Amino acid sequence: MSSVLLDVHLTESAAETALRADARAGLMAEPKQLPPKWFYDGRGSELFEKITELPEYYPTRTERALLRASVDDIAAASGADTVVELGSGSSAKTRLLLDAFTRAGTLRRYVPQDVSEPALRLALHALADEYAGLELHGVVGDFTRDLSGLPRGGRRMIAFLGGTVGNLLPAERAAFLTHVRSVLEPGEQLLLGTGLVIDPAIVVPAYDDAAGVTAEFNRNVLHVLNRELGADFDPEAFAHVAAWDAENEWIEMRLRAERDMTVTIAALDLVVRFAAGEEMRTEISAKFRRDGVGAMLTDAGFEPSRWWADPQDRFGLSLATAR
Ligand code: SAH
Ligand code: AVI
Repeated sequence: MSSVLLDVHLTESAAETALRADARAGLMAEPKQLPPKWFYDGRGSELFEKITELPEYYPTRTERALLRASVDDIAAASGADTVVELGSGSSAKTRLLLDAFTRAGTLRRYVPQDVSEPALRLALHALADEYAGLELHGVVGDFTRDLSGLPRGGRRMIAFLGGTVGNLLPAERAAFLTHVRSVLEPGEQLLLGTGLVIDPAIVVPAYDDAAGVTAEFNRNVLHVLNRELGADFDPEAFAHVAAWDAENEWIEMRLRAERDMTVTIAALDLVVRFAAGEEMRTEISAKFRRDGVGAMLTDAGFEPSRWWADPQDRFGLSLATAR
């Protein structure tokens, strides 16, 4: 039997307070914007899982193949007894890591952390059946806020996969990595997955698929605001936009108002106007170059030690040690 624990560091009421603050600041900003963490209610997490299976969405299958090819190397280079994973979602690809660390004979504990309690509960439930003997310690939390409550002890490797680091703006990213470093002991490790800069003709369709799943994922944030904050957005009146920003080397998702609209957010006592054609940013997904990843890790107080990439250089995995 595996032992299963779930710590809720982000209670429903704290999440709602944070959502209110983000919605107020973002909807009053010029241009308007919303942070991507609010995509992921139960439906948003399900839509993300559907995205990972789309023919156009190469990141997940590329990282999975890369993990498959490198996990035994990673486990040997790491030697960790605890794998902590931030933004773990369904923990689907992580099974490859858990299996390799088990083969290496070091794994004792897996600590998945995610802002989405439904996704985390589903993942823990499935893992408990599959990994008898493994200590499972889930943490519901916001990785941009509170990593200090992550369980300590043992020899930990924090995994941050999927390229989710690219969903943080540059300043948030630097603060996040410094925070990750600060909760590790010297010698503990970070395994970071990053999408790499490739031809925009491949990236753009990955964020604007023919079946419209990404569009639905994008609009889901409006459903979340309607439900949680009593807003009256008409999600269908917003078009999905995915645009490559060549200067910043990121893809940007936006929602474009298809007509003039007045939206009331009851819980905020706020009325917001959208002009026809106005675009609100909902996500960036930055792509990286190997040198840039090394520099960002070094700047945050890590010593990058190993690098793996797929044969087409679409996705990279870095192992780095806390200095
Ligand atoms: N790691 C998985 C899932 C990536 S999707 C993979 O590679 O497929 C991004 C995940 O990060 C989602 O599960 C989402 O709920 C979570 N997430 C997004 N913002 C977060 C935040 N600020 N704190 C914690 N989890 C977050
Ligand atoms: C979670 N994250 C890495 C995904 C990405 O590719 O940036 C989220 C996503 N957005 C649109 N499609 C997938």
